[in-house]
Amino acid sequence: MKKKISIIGCGAIGSELAQHVDSNMAKNVTLLSILDIRPENAEALKLKLSNNSPLLFNNFDDFVKSESFKEVELVIEAASQNAITSYLNQLISFKKDVLVMSVGAFANSAFFSEVSRNVESNDINIYVPSGAIAGIDALKSVKNSVSYVTLTTTKNPNSLKDSPFFKNNNFTVDSIKKRTLIFEGSAIEAVQNFPANVNVAALLGLAGIGVEKTKVNVIADPSIRINKHEIKVIGKFGELIVRVKNIPSSTNPKTSYLAILSVIECLRSITTKGFKYGT
Ligand SMILES: NC(=O)c1ccc[n+]([C@@H]2O[C@H](COP(=O)([O-])OP(=O)(O)OC[C@H]3O[C@@H](n4cnc5c(N)ncnc54)[C@H](O)[C@@H]3O)[C@@H](O)[C@H]2O)c1
Repeated sequence: MKKKISIIGCGAIGSELAQHVDSNMAKNVTLLSILDIRPENAEALKLKLSNNSPLLFNNFDDFVKSESFKEVELVIEAASQNAITSYLNQLISFKKDVLVMSVGAFANSAFFSEVSRNVESNDINIYVPSGAIAGIDALKSVKNSVSYVTLTTTKNPNSLKDSPFFKNNNFTVDSIKKRTLIFEGSAIEAVQNFPANVNVAALLGLAGIGVEKTKVNVIADPSIRINKHEIKVIGKFGELIVRVKNIPSSTNPKTSYLAILSVIECLRSITTKGFKYGT
């Protein structure tokens, strides 16, 4: 039986995922519909597909009221934290499993608690891929004996452009001429200041010792073209140090190509039977 899915967000992640589904995963997955608040993005994506012919929506209410939505088993969000905040509880109330990429939305603990209660009462799954980092598997295993989790993210200032951080602190990315530590704080504060850049900080917090205790440093470095994430975990188990040097997506420099591969792998794992290793 093919898994019937919808994708919300037709940018870097949603587009690559849809094309992968269309070309490689057609055996297991059918793409029933796509939703994007920018109709031109959904239309451009549909033109790239040849084996699936999804219905297009640019409004959440029309999407969930459509006949096709009743058949959807899994909704994949690759849009924005706003999309998650506005749509997730409604999707859960329709008893849809949801795969969430904008995990930063869960750094808001009131929202996360509300979602967690709804997930339990509606008996559905929320899938959160490992995204742009590695080591979540080990962090989950050791979380009860951990005293320290730090993420240091280094990006080219252009990848950090438009972040609320610059408005809040009244300076511009163009003024950064050399490698500079621009932010130190908790995962909660990091996600508020860089919502499109450090989703992984929220994921580390959720998988580990919480978003308040997880520390984040953000370094802007004009000399690099990659997105670098370094994770350090210390606890009774020993030490875990993970360094990921990510090539940015060709269409969105804020998003690492690894994040796209991680959602493809997560969907593959959900839709296939057999060995489940490294989970
Ligand atoms: N978990 C991770 O490791 C990780 C890594 C990279 C990106 N992300 C997050 O995943 C999300 C998607 O990333 P991307 O690179 O594809 O972004 P993108 O900007 O390339 O594309 C986002 C698309 O979603 C659409 N969109 C935005 N808000 C929407 C809404 N409310 N309803 C419907 N459509 C909406 C936009 O019009 C755009 O087409 C972002 O929130 C990003 O921060 C997470």
